Amino acid sequence: MQTTADIITLSLDYYRRRFLRSAALLGVAAGARPLSADRFPALDFAADICASASAPLQKLTIPGESGYLGRLAPRGMAVTLTARQRKDSRSGTGTLEYAASHRGRLYSNPVLVVERGERVRIRLANALPESTIVHWHGLSVSASNDGNGSVLVAPSKTYDYDFEIRNRSAMYWYHPHPHGRTADQTYLGLFGAVLVEDDADRALRAALDLIPGQTEIPLVMQDRRAGNAYFPSSMDLARGLVGDDLCINGVRDAYLDVATRVYRLRLLNAANARTFRVAFRTPEGSLVPFTLIGNDGGLLPTPIRCEQVFLATAERIDLLIDLRDTNVGDLLRMDTLAFDPMYAKVAEVAASDHAGMGATGQPKAGSAHEYVGQWPEGSPRTLLELRVRKRVAYDRAIPARLSDVPAIDVAAANERPFRLGFAKGRWRINDRVFEMGAAPIEVQRNTVETWLIRNYHTSMPHAMHLHGFHFEVLARETSPDEIAALQQDPQGRLATDFGRKDTVLVWPGESVRIAIDFILPFPGPQSYLFHCHNLEHEDGGMMLPVLVV
Ligand code: C2O
Ligand code: CU
Ligand code: CU
Repeated sequence: MQTTADIITLSLDYYRRRFLRSAALLGVAAGARPLSADRFPALDFAADICASASAPLQKLTIPGESGYLGRLAPRGMAVTLTARQRKDSRSGTGTLEYAASHRGRLYSNPVLVVERGERVRIRLANALPESTIVHWHGLSVSASNDGNGSVLVAPSKTYDYDFEIRNRSAMYWYHPHPHGRTADQTYLGLFGAVLVEDDADRALRAALDLIPGQTEIPLVMQDRRAGNAYFPSSMDLARGLVGDDLCINGVRDAYLDVATRVYRLRLLNAANARTFRVAFRTPEGSLVPFTLIGNDGGLLPTPIRCEQVFLATAERIDLLIDLRDTNVGDLLRMDTLAFDPMYAKVAEVAASDHAGMGATGQPKAGSAHEYVGQWPEGSPRTLLELRVRKRVAYDRAIPARLSDVPAIDVAAANERPFRLGFAKGRWRINDRVFEMGAAPIEVQRNTVETWLIRNYHTSMPHAMHLHGFHFEVLARETSPDEIAALQQDPQGRLATDFGRKDTVLVWPGESVRIAIDFILPFPGPQSYLFHCHNLEHEDGGMMLPVLVV
């Protein structure tokens, strides 16, 4: 076991390195001229929306056919994403963006709309003053297309992706993945979504008369602090950085006008570290049930009626909210409910902060700007206000079957154990931290494995993510009471565990067993990653390479 002095010394070092690099990244506006700057004139946005807590809510931006998070359907054409400094730094969007121009339209962080089976060609152009790479989160692509960080794109250079969409219809996403810089670049605004469509998705839209951009709305959620810097304290690095405000689709404190019908909301948690406990409530506080229809890996076999679900960083949920029983003038809130963030381990670090500093004789650089947040992890907040504005006739029924998700056959599977814990100032998987090129976990292609992921009870929650493959959650064991109360079956699974997943939140003291079918159509060994998606943990090394041979 490490001493507290170790913890503080290591995190401070880490913090200093990060601070210097982040300062460099922010400096781009002053000097370097971004690549192809004139091909991307500033996008036309509504006025800046730097809402304070007491300011009136702002109208939610619903992604349209261009602009911020605009829907871009490449339909076989190559698309260039330019990672660059934003021209107009809005408080809700951060300072960096992926700019694209397609068929005469300009996009910022486009939502790529693709068909299952479609060939996608993307060029990443790096107009940042530092290296980057894009990772396609949840898409089953070859290692060279995965953007796992083993190859980086230097400033003013490009990288070409060329892959086929092999995944089911769902919302996937993309974000930077340069090891040690993922948290900074993502926080500063680099992320977008990929919407894969297929027959099951079209059937659902037809059955419920859903129209993307009107009654089917993506909610890309990121919590942010005031200002436009990524400036984590040592405690932020230990816990993961949480912001004070919630931005949905780049808008702080948003409301949405709705009618008395069914809406499909597709949530992506693009926050660095925050977990949401999503629920709908009346202004009086009573819970209004909703219907969960999908998660990371697409539609569930059958809809599940829920009152609340946890949504960890990088996870997605697809839900239906039925407003037929509401009246014009009613309000409904999408909230995050209070929960215990279970910071057991890091609480210890915090308690010993002063003692630790004294022991090492280091200046209190980390503590000096120790961030006192206004929205601590686990405290409740309204995420989005739904304002019922219009009565409409609507008589569609939610289909009883949504998709086919065959169970993975685990009869011949070998089990691989993983332990999540903290030692020597770092979060670890199997006592190891990430080293580029270090001995990976080796998996035989076209075999099924079960993984047993155990989190120490003195740990904190970790959102474990695997690149390249979706998995089936088989069971949750010894879940904390707060989680056990939400279990849906004797295996201890939650509503969000059904269907297919690429990220699963493992709470302190909990064991989660998953099944993975390592079907791999690409020749030669392919290198992927298994890591915690709390981006501060990931950058700190809570990540292991997975080589499929
Ligand atoms: Cu969102 Cu390594 O992933
Ligand atoms: Cu990923
Ligand atoms: Cu973690």
